[in-house]
Amino acid sequence: MARIGLLTGGGDCPGLNAVIRAVVRKGINAYGHDFVGFRYGWAGVLAADAIELTHQSTSGILHRGGTILGTSRTNVFKEENGLERVRESLAQLSIDALVPIGGEDTLGVAGKLSDAGLNVVGVPKTIDNDLAGTDFTFGFQTAVQVATDAIDRLHTTAESHNRVIVVEVMGRHAGWIAAYAGLAGGADVVLVPERPFDVDEVCERLRRRHAQGRNFSIVVVAEGATPTDGSLHSEFEAKDSFGHVRLGGIAIELEREIEQRTGFEARMTILGHVQRGGTPCAYDRVLGSRFGVEAIDAVHEGDYGKMVALRGTEIVRVPLSEALAEPKLLDPKLFETAEVFFG
Ligand code: F6P
Repeated sequence: MARIGLLTGGGDCPGLNAVIRAVVRKGINAYGHDFVGFRYGWAGVLAADAIELTHQSTSGILHRGGTILGTSRTNVFKEENGLERVRESLAQLSIDALVPIGGEDTLGVAGKLSDAGLNVVGVPKTIDNDLAGTDFTFGFQTAVQVATDAIDRLHTTAESHNRVIVVEVMGRHAGWIAAYAGLAGGADVVLVPERPFDVDEVCERLRRRHAQGRNFSIVVVAEGATPTDGSLHSEFEAKDSFGHVRLGGIAIELEREIEQRTGFEARMTILGHVQRGGTPCAYDRVLGSRFGVEAIDAVHEGDYGKMVALRGTEIVRVPLSEALAEPKLLDPKLFETAEVFFG
């Protein structure tokens, strides 16, 4: 019997609670392990701030968005004596193994802790779906559904007013959410970080469409998309403890440019954190549950230094280092499929 610590780090996403529930449920029922949950990601590990996780405290959370543990973007290795403090805290709470649930940053810390000899099994999460080593992360499908529902709604108002509506979605430096939601929502233009765009070309495309008798258009833009000439910006100056800039706002400039260059009335909507909040869709609950069950099996077998992952339809274990390779950018074929429906 082991005592295992869970934590959720980085941006929250729908499906985190499904993982927590699955790890604890199988860990108690099948193996008789003990669980604690660190509060607010690595910050909780550094501060030995943890709560007991039991069958009862993890019941009724499957459908709940966010994370019952709280989260933060804390980087252990940017903190003074971070590694020593983690070791002390784990010793103080008699923790044998850690199950961090997070994206590239949280799992990056997990990888370094694993290299330092700690027992770690990671679980990948992010709405951005940009983590190498896994075909999908949970949270992504929910974000895509939220964005698609929004595009559906924006379609009807765009049509009523003869407007171009620019919808900005999240995704950081990957265009997965934009391409999926754009395809599902029938967008007329989709702009992704992987393909810098020319504003004149976007306008020309809209003009052509309107010349063919359509009087409204939907442009989906990923927050990390950039124009080829670097004229529009979506970066804030501040960086987080992992060195990431905050993105957002490209739609504001794009709305203005489109209106000025084409004469079509334009409006923009930034979906922002709506994409991360609320109930996880069924797919994300199932994927989170499958990841959680595999993670506790790996811990039970002492198969550390791994991340659980989806490959095709199978749940597998891959070395944490694989997950920490380059981010997984949008599949060009998917973009080309979305492109078929542009204009
Ligand atoms: O990585 C998930 C994500 O939602 C990105 O799509 C977005 O750029 C970022 O997190 C926003 O972070 P924050 O919640 O810190 O504003």
